[in-house]
Amino acid sequence: MQHQTRVPNVRTRYDLFSRILHWSIAVVMIYVMIIGYSLHFIPNEQVYTFFSETNMSLATALTPLMMIRFLWRYFRPAVPYGEMLKGHDKGLVHLLHEIFYLLIFVVLISGFLMLEKGFQIFGVIDFPRPISNVEVNRFFFSVHRGSCMALAGMIILHVAAVIKHHCIEKKAILHRML
Ligand code: HEM
Ligand code: HEM
Repeated sequence: MQHQTRVPNVRTRYDLFSRILHWSIAVVMIYVMIIGYSLHFIPNEQVYTFFSETNMSLATALTPLMMIRFLWRYFRPAVPYGEMLKGHDKGLVHLLHEIFYLLIFVVLISGFLMLEKGFQIFGVIDFPRPISNVEVNRFFFSVHRGSCMALAGMIILHVAAVIKHHCIEKKAILHRML
């Protein structure tokens, strides 16, 4: 007599909500990062202010999205790696993802706390300066600078890891997020 074993419906990619959040946040964050560094090369004050305030507005919009994304990780359906990643490698990838989230929140929080004056979110809503102490603002500016560099490194590492797994090791890692 033959037993019928039920094959569980194992997920091979993230749910739609996670995928939308991942790609929309990635596009905006990479833009904000590039403009953040490009500001050094903009001599015209008006142009500088436009890009700086747009950048701060976009980063402000990213903040609630990141909080939702962070919380959703604990409720969304699991996407097991299966044969693709095992043991220590799997642990390392999980650890790096945790560090990714941590860095993003340090960048966001230090961005707000370094503000030496308020700004208008997309020219509409007033955002006041949270800490009115220049010394403290300057401290958080150094935190912002340091964490931005670490985050840029992390993004490069992340993309390089995906390319390596996908193109060299021929593992369907990219499919998990498409
Ligand atoms: C993930 C989000 C963010 C990224 C990727 C980012 C990235 C950057 C980068 C690369 C720089 C240049 C750093 C340097 O010169 O070494 C910068 C500067 C700056 N960031 Fe952020 N940042 C983010 C969030 C924020 C937030 C939330 C605020 C405040 C609302 C903020 C306010 C600033 C300010 C005021 C500067 C100085 C340059 C300027 O006047 O715009 N940032 N940021
Ligand atoms: C600012 C840019 C990016 C950030 C902050 C980011 C962040 C993350 C995080 C935290 C995860 C873990 C899953 C999750 O918690 O949602 C993830 C997964 C993934 N990301 Fe990104 N990502 C970025 C850009 C990219 C880019 C440009 C690519 C394309 C090469 C990419 C491809 C993937 C893939 C394929 C996964 C699934 C990998 C896995 O499940 O181990 N990401 N990303």
